Amino acid sequence: MGLFSSSTQTIPITGDVPAHIAVIMDGNGRWARKRFLPRVAGHKRGVETVRTLVKKCAEINVKYLTLFAFSSENWRRPEEEVTFLMGLFMDALKREVFKLHENNIRLVLIGDRSKFGAALNEQIISAEQLTANNTGLVLTIAANYGGRWDVMQATNKMHLMNPAKAGKFEEQDINQYLSMHYAPEPDLFIRTGGETRISNFLLWQLAYTELYFTEVLWPDFDGQAFAKAIQSFQQRERRFGRTSEQIKAPTDA
Ligand code: IPE
Ligand code: IPE
Ligand code: MG
Repeated sequence: MGLFSSSTQTIPITGDVPAHIAVIMDGNGRWARKRFLPRVAGHKRGVETVRTLVKKCAEINVKYLTLFAFSSENWRRPEEEVTFLMGLFMDALKREVFKLHENNIRLVLIGDRSKFGAALNEQIISAEQLTANNTGLVLTIAANYGGRWDVMQATNKMHLMNPAKAGKFEEQDINQYLSMHYAPEPDLFIRTGGETRISNFLLWQLAYTELYFTEVLWPDFDGQAFAKAIQSFQQRERRFGRTSEQIKAPTDA
């Protein structure tokens, strides 16, 4: 069993501030093109938005922030862009890790690491190790991550660990093998850049997450835009299958 209950097995306790926010940081390329800049200028600028958002989340007591940085399908992009993104990731890790550590932030990377170079993998491991015991915000970066990859790798591990249960596995058996076993399911999902799709992000974990889509391009996603997302979240009624009446008068439910 994982540390956290599953939204389909137990009704989660929810609050006004999302405990876990998962973000698809989209629109960097379009931000740059609008300014007649190369697409990669948008990625570079996007790192600053990450910095601002991390600070904001820590301020309002969000416990987990998960950012989609590179999908398993992003390898389909032009080679120069992929190379630039890997370099940017490496530089950002190197540059930001001490500041994260000072701020008691724990950094975790999820995704298939086998396609990264040795230097990047070492940088990731050292950043994770340095911040492993921090008790503040848990910042997860999803890189070469795909929701289907995650479910499949977890399924394979689950089966390997308990072959005798084959054919009788239950939903909760998989939780401890999923990449995000250390976090509750996201309360709020944000996608910037105007597209209204999941793009193979956390498929399993988004079962009951509140989805928020905004036209704002990632480099423009500032404190005010974030506050709007939080406001929208606070207006939702999270029913998890129940009726509205049950939630308003839980005692006569
Ligand atoms: C998101 O911005 C960043 C990554 C996918 C790495 P995009 O690069 O997808 O920006 P658009 O969607 O082309 O504007
Ligand atoms: C999703 O954005 C992945 C990341 C933000 C890392 P994309 O821009 O790659 O998504 P699609 O291709 O438009 O669905
Ligand atoms: Mg995009």
